[in-house]
Amino acid sequence: MMMRVRQEGDDPLKVALLGSGIVGTQVAKLILDHGDDFAARIGRPLELVGIAVRDLTRPRDGLPTELFTDDAEALVARPGTDVVIELIGGIEPAKQLILSAIDHGASVVTANKALLAAHGDEIFDAAERAGVDVYYEAAVAGAIPIVRPLRESLVGDSIRMVMGIVNGTTNYILDKMTTEQTDYETALVQAQDLGYAEADPTADVEGFDAAAKAALLASLAFHTRVNGDQVHTEGITRIVQDDIRAAREVGCVVKLVAIANQLDDSQISVRVHPALIPLGHPLAAVSGAYNAIFVEADAAGRLMFLGPGAGGAPTASAVTGDLVTVARNRARGVAGPNQTIYNNLTVADMGAVQTRYFLRLRVVDEPGVLAAIATILARHGISVQTVLQTPASDTASRTAASAELSLMTHMAIESNLLACLSELKANPSVRSEVRFLRVEGM
Ligand code: HSE
Repeated sequence: MMMRVRQEGDDPLKVALLGSGIVGTQVAKLILDHGDDFAARIGRPLELVGIAVRDLTRPRDGLPTELFTDDAEALVARPGTDVVIELIGGIEPAKQLILSAIDHGASVVTANKALLAAHGDEIFDAAERAGVDVYYEAAVAGAIPIVRPLRESLVGDSIRMVMGIVNGTTNYILDKMTTEQTDYETALVQAQDLGYAEADPTADVEGFDAAAKAALLASLAFHTRVNGDQVHTEGITRIVQDDIRAAREVGCVVKLVAIANQLDDSQISVRVHPALIPLGHPLAAVSGAYNAIFVEADAAGRLMFLGPGAGGAPTASAVTGDLVTVARNRARGVAGPNQTIYNNLTVADMGAVQTRYFLRLRVVDEPGVLAAIATILARHGISVQTVLQTPASDTASRTAASAELSLMTHMAIESNLLACLSELKANPSVRSEVRFLRVEGM
């Protein structure tokens, strides 16, 4: 069904904004300060008709006070609203407000990755039925255009893999641990001081924020609905300085990556976890709080998208890009392209994933130990690519000399690797935990 919007003359398109935090304030300013440019690009002027906030008493950074309301439901239900921009985040009341906006015939622009990863099917279906747009470029990787490239520019290609650094906070922390040899806690405090990490950093450091983004990227890339809870998710809290050092010794850096790739004709893998990335890979050079997304497509080959992944102005750029696009569609009386979900690919269990692994363990330094370790690996079908042995820095055992083994495997199946780890842990020659990290991009 196609939405009927007014066509006559230069009537302004009415825009309601939900939320006036760091991003919302920037968006309101851009709409108010760049009205003439936006009108020229859209073919109709925009009118910001209201900004819904929780607390009307807070200072409003120079924005006209008459625009503010604490009645978000009344704002989205206001007759004639063309576009609702949702920047309050979280599941409720954002979900009900977006559904109400759609129900009242408005198109929606949102940055809400958690909501779309959990309830995208309900929201996109409602928008499809109403013939309105739901655009969400700002939900994944801030200012970086990646939603529209996947949904539109690359829609004629077959995507094989999307691998990204999609969380700036964790990239900042890992980068500090790598370049300044700080420990995790110190780097986290620095990220909090700079405003990257929240006082409660759980969503970032445990990988949940990246998992929601991975679900959205996978849905677009593979035309398959993927929810956030289907994404295998590991954060960076278990990464220690020794992991970073050992990675450096084999020419890699540790990054938190979100990966969606095709395993076979019926299965995809979607996962977020720390991984060793070889220094020569484009993602290895992504520093600070930057984000980057690396895409491999059949015909296009390898593409890299890089830029600021968070922050008020960069995220506002993505929001206003969507606003202008959605407004152009409204001005022409059409809705733009939606996601095309037609491939019912299965999201595979993590055990089915195939990748390379980097294992680190301390063993008794005696004849035959290396051969015994290799035999355990071989029994589980895991082939060793390289081995590095160094005298153990921390000799807890005084009864026999010990050595640190760093092993890089060839491609292996995760379930085999896990079975192998259990056997290694039980072996009397192994004198430490067996640390393992996946290796990607090699
Ligand atoms: N907290 C996120 C990050 C930005 O650090 O990248 C919002 O998703």
